[in-house]
Amino acid sequence: MKKFFSVADVDNLKDIVAEALAIKANPNAQEELGKHKMLGLVFLNPSLRTRLSTQKAAMNLGMNVMVMNMDKDGWALETRDGVVMDGTTVEHIREAAAVMGEYCDILGLRSFPTLKDKEADYSEDLFNKFINYCGVPVVSLESATRHPLQSLTDLITITEYKKKEKPKVVLAWAPHVKALPQAVPNSFAEWMSKAQAEGLLDFTVAQPAGYELHEDFTQGAHITTDLQEALKDADFVYVKNWSSFKEYGAVYPVNENWMMDNEKLKLTNDAKVMHCLPVRRDLELSSEILDGPNSLVIKEASNRVWAAQVVLKRMLEDLK
Ligand code: CP
Repeated sequence: MKKFFSVADVDNLKDIVAEALAIKANPNAQEELGKHKMLGLVFLNPSLRTRLSTQKAAMNLGMNVMVMNMDKDGWALETRDGVVMDGTTVEHIREAAAVMGEYCDILGLRSFPTLKDKEADYSEDLFNKFINYCGVPVVSLESATRHPLQSLTDLITITEYKKKEKPKVVLAWAPHVKALPQAVPNSFAEWMSKAQAEGLLDFTVAQPAGYELHEDFTQGAHITTDLQEALKDADFVYVKNWSSFKEYGAVYPVNENWMMDNEKLKLTNDAKVMHCLPVRRDLELSSEILDGPNSLVIKEASNRVWAAQVVLKRMLEDLK
């Protein structure tokens, strides 16, 4: 594996989930694989889970790890070509990425969207330039449009906790006070759509009118604005807020109550409730669910290690 940016970088979902679960059962079995190899993790935005789980995964494989908080500790980056750098930017991504590639065997990058310029965000210009200029395999730690390590984690977690061959999985929009990216729901939808196409589950997306995701990510999904209809017989409910794609980055007022709580849980097939975290309690998701028996959020966060480890393992195996 030379790149882990989207579900398109994985041939077979069943195989990668099985490999991740085998790693979970025996985390130190490949501790020699990464010996004398350096992983560089570059963050342009905050992180708790992605940062710590990816470091732990690399250490389980015997790798060394360097972390760069580029937003706080790095030079201000220029990403445009053909501009005279006489403003606030100090270093061009061409040099910055190339230099980091000299120090590291594998790089990870987190770069959130602007939520102002749809075209620039959805072209993944910064991420693609980083991949092109660094010259080493790159794992996405969340880009403008996708969060593949989270989505792989979510599929691992659903596989572990499902009680039937083909569970009903619902992605349910939730309220928030801020405009959040579409990266997590886009990515979840993209992975679940592929899992549905492979016969692994049935997938529904529920969101208020105006919050529809880009259709590229929801191919084959049942899409509804009726949360109650979506929740009926659900086995897993994946709760997440996102801002509007159509009116890019907008947050519309929503009159109906979309926060998942125990009352809504009664509509489901005793569904397990998931969220990528961080979560705003009693705004996005009720405390009664988060603290109750149906919540998978901590188990889900724990599985971030095995998603990162299977991806790093595959990249290490493909290094020359
Ligand atoms: N879910 C997730 O990516 O968490 P962090 O933003 O804390 O890494």
